[in-house]
Amino acid sequence: MLREVAATRYVEPLHTGGSVPGVVEADDLGTYVVKFTGSAQGRKALVAEVIVGELARALGLRFPELVLVHFDPAIAADEPHQEVRELHTSSAGVNLGMDYLPGAKDFTPEVARAFPLDPLEAGRIVWLDALTVNVDRTVHSSNLVVWPTLGVAPPRLWLIDHGAALVFHHRWDGSDPAKVYDFRHHALGHYGPDVRAADAELAPKVTEELLREIAAEVPDDWLADEPGFATPDAVREAYVTYLHARVRASRAWLPTDFPGARELAEENARRAARTRQGRPDWLKRVPDLHGKPAAEQDWSVHLG
Ligand SMILES: Nc1ncnc2c1ncn2[C@@H]1O[C@H](COP(=O)(O)OP(=O)(O)OP(=O)(O)O)[C@@H](O)[C@H]1O
Ligand SMILES: [Mg+2]
Repeated sequence: MLREVAATRYVEPLHTGGSVPGVVEADDLGTYVVKFTGSAQGRKALVAEVIVGELARALGLRFPELVLVHFDPAIAADEPHQEVRELHTSSAGVNLGMDYLPGAKDFTPEVARAFPLDPLEAGRIVWLDALTVNVDRTVHSSNLVVWPTLGVAPPRLWLIDHGAALVFHHRWDGSDPAKVYDFRHHALGHYGPDVRAADAELAPKVTEELLREIAAEVPDDWLADEPGFATPDAVREAYVTYLHARVRASRAWLPTDFPGARELAEENARRAARTRQGRPDWLKRVPDLHGKPAAEQDWSVHLG
């Protein structure tokens, strides 16, 4: 089961995250990144974090520990932003914490250029994303971090943020477990991910028993009141059934067509040209963001 801790000090909000997670210290002396139940992404994002994250861990991928965090908004009363304070107030109670990796660096395309990764490890991560329909591990937003970064031990790739996975839980009827998704812009596509080897190695490990154990880790409160389901256990069983059917259909959805860096650059250039064509003259000079991270990473251009 996930450990339970109580938040004792609110350190800071992480404004780079769309859901504004908070860094907190807890009564076990650990530091955690907390995703709040009251965020716009909703409880389903937390359910996806638990199911996909714990599946990653069970399959041997690197993923920080998850804990359930009891959060009293009073500890963050000094937070200056009203909308962040409101997020805390609406999240009193149990939230999701992830072990904070101090000094972790986002895995951006620039970092990726110099980071060695073997095709099998890349294949395992792409395979997990395709199984769990995680559409948020792209070159634009990798949701991967490199840690440690201080030179004490070799830097490794860690998975974070699976809140956008399991897209099928937004429409339970009519989601085909064999459905193919577009993973061509996956953050690790240029490493030549060996997804076939990953499939042979990992698919047999994703049993109904394992999926059931993992679904049991999700708190009842996050599964209650799901339309069409009588009880939280019925929702858990739906996750188990869907993911088990999907893992057995892996031949249908294995992503194998990854464009190289040059192809991606050409594709981005084509998309940029199309966008520019549709713009009025005065907008044609606005910087082209195709293929670039959503948030500005290099501030040096504004200095000096
Ligand atoms: N466990 C962690 N240790 C260190 N830094 C982290 C950790 N988790 C997240 N971060 C940092 O916080 C940023 C935002 O986290 P995350 O992507 O999980 O938030 P989010 O609100 O789900 O974001 P979004 O939906 O915008 O992708 C990450 O890009 C990373 O820089
Ligand atoms: Mg993220």
